[in-house]
Amino acid sequence: MSIDAARARVQTLREEIRGHDYRYYVEADPVISDREYDLLLRELFDLEAQFPELVSPDSPTQRVGGEPVKEFASVRHARPMLSLQNTYSKDELADFDRRVREGLDTDDYAYMADLKYDGVAISLLYEDGKFVRGATRGDGVTGDDVSSNLRTIRAIPLEVKHVEVGGVPLRNFEVRGEIYMRNADFEKINAERIRNGEKTFANPRNLTAGTLKMQDPRIVAERSLRIACYSLITDGVELSGQTDSMQLMRAMGFPTGADYRLCADIETVFSYIEEWENRRGRLEFMIDGIVLKVDSLEQQSILGRVSRFPRWAIAYKYEAEKARTKLEDIFMQVGRTGVITPVAALSPVFVSGSTVSRATLHNADFIAELGIRVGDTVIIEKGGEVIPKVVGFVPEQRPADAELFQFPTECPCGLGQELKRYEGEANFYCENPECPSQRLRKIIHFASRGAMDIEGLGDKNVEQLLEAGLLKNVADVYDLEQHRAQILELERWADKKVERMLEGINRSRERPFEKVLYAVGIRFVGEEIARLLVGAFRSIDELMAADQESLAAIHGIGPRIAESLVKFFGVERNRELIERLRAAGLQLDRPETAADENAGNRALSGKTFVITGTLPSMKRPEAKALIEAQGGKVTGSVSAKTSFLLAGEDAGSKRDKAEKLGITIIGEDELRAMIAG
Ligand code: IVH
Repeated sequence: MSIDAARARVQTLREEIRGHDYRYYVEADPVISDREYDLLLRELFDLEAQFPELVSPDSPTQRVGGEPVKEFASVRHARPMLSLQNTYSKDELADFDRRVREGLDTDDYAYMADLKYDGVAISLLYEDGKFVRGATRGDGVTGDDVSSNLRTIRAIPLEVKHVEVGGVPLRNFEVRGEIYMRNADFEKINAERIRNGEKTFANPRNLTAGTLKMQDPRIVAERSLRIACYSLITDGVELSGQTDSMQLMRAMGFPTGADYRLCADIETVFSYIEEWENRRGRLEFMIDGIVLKVDSLEQQSILGRVSRFPRWAIAYKYEAEKARTKLEDIFMQVGRTGVITPVAALSPVFVSGSTVSRATLHNADFIAELGIRVGDTVIIEKGGEVIPKVVGFVPEQRPADAELFQFPTECPCGLGQELKRYEGEANFYCENPECPSQRLRKIIHFASRGAMDIEGLGDKNVEQLLEAGLLKNVADVYDLEQHRAQILELERWADKKVERMLEGINRSRERPFEKVLYAVGIRFVGEEIARLLVGAFRSIDELMAADQESLAAIHGIGPRIAESLVKFFGVERNRELIERLRAAGLQLDRPETAADENAGNRALSGKTFVITGTLPSMKRPEAKALIEAQGGKVTGSVSAKTSFLLAGEDAGSKRDKAEKLGITIIGEDELRAMIAG
């Protein structure tokens, strides 16, 4: 084929493909099958491979995703991306309507009501009709440039159709909208992740947000993201209103929702809300409410905004969706710290965008308070991202033979361990360190995203490796590379999968100290507490040497946590575990940062203290821990280098010396004041 013939064919193919994208995403009315579409795309790929000079950034072939990026650049939005005031109440909507009427000083206005897509807000910039940049909302003023990821989304036109307004072509503009994922696509991805033993996503919004932040656009390309555009911003062309903008966007090739409505008054808005309250469960995607906007752009600018919120728009949010289903059983789940959580096994029911078959029942008291019994029809509720909750049952539908639930006395792990409940605690615990369920949860937690973040070591894989005897505790993870051959013999494991996991394990050696501390799974030590501890102790050795008193003196660490830490490090096998993790090369201390040295971020950084006398409420080790936790140093004798003398009752020679050297003498209250800042 000659270059000219190729150029012509490339042109035709691109137009055809764009036309099909439009039919598919904007009109939701495709005229060819996926296979036929793929054939067109393949032909275009082949031609561009043969004639690379014909490749252009707006070609549909560019959607497969370019090279991974290291970091997204920050971009400043031309106009801030505002948030909306939220309400759950119709009365507040009526108030909003009154404010609009008063603000405009007329009854002559209309609203555009639209579905509130539950996704991620995005801004798309076009120059001369071509997509040039796309960014996340970020803090509203600056966001992340995620153009390379957005390019892969077929629903976003790379080049727009020619549209004119009053004879002026629409070429330079910004479109804003919500990127979202359909429920079916979401469930497909989660199902595949379960098969691969990977972690699942809580809901389509989280998956969408996670996908947009991916550094590899090739993965984004496979995730079938959608967009619903809702606003058009342009300087050169006069637009009249919101509905008008929607039509123009559609004409240019941007998908907008099809379900928006122009409402002449607030009553019409109320019926729109009621209509969608009933219909939303049948949508193919999630919405979390409706958005109400004054339609006229001129009236919008009269109303203006207060801080981040426009006075011409508001969001009405729907209450969490509820559903009824049968409580088939209650089973016990053993957590990583031995905590026993009762879980409801439910007949699968579709609610808020996904199928629910499990819900936590928290503890024995929760079950007793709800009064639910196995066999009951229970009411479950699911908010945007929260795990489903059981909120009640239907008394009329209770089977005659439904029995009161008896909380088990033994751990379900099969070792016959009696469950223990401590004074003042709602939970029962299994305290057998050999408990296999606990071991499993411990390792799963260790590998999880917030902890060591080991790619390729998801729940299913941990389970399999544990069953095969290759994992017993978290330190065994770092011995897995010595068992490559054995792993390869297991079902569903091939070279590539093993390699990926080992790479993930290797990378986890770089995880910072606080993540390791959290990952180890000490009772009550969550992410927040781990961070506090790392702020107070530079290394695991310092932490292990601390006694209960000095731990409890750290701001934010209560006696319960202090006790748990001392108990944990007091157990020989836990100390051995730490030693094995150290030998495996994990980070067990925090790097010396500039902040440690200069007056940086902690209240007492760079200050040296001497403590003397009896303090009114603190013992000396507590005061020492408190000072050190805030970055200060405590020494034994007063010198010219001492910044403060912390003095209590009966302070003797140290006080005299400090006075002589002109060192500031403080009491316990002043110390606390210094820390409180
Ligand atoms: S209009 C001034 N329309 O909801 C902001 N927003 O809480 C005008 N959203 O950040 C936004 N669907 O991400 C608008 N049909 C829709 C929407 C919508 C979802 C999101 C958007 C915005 C957030 C506001």
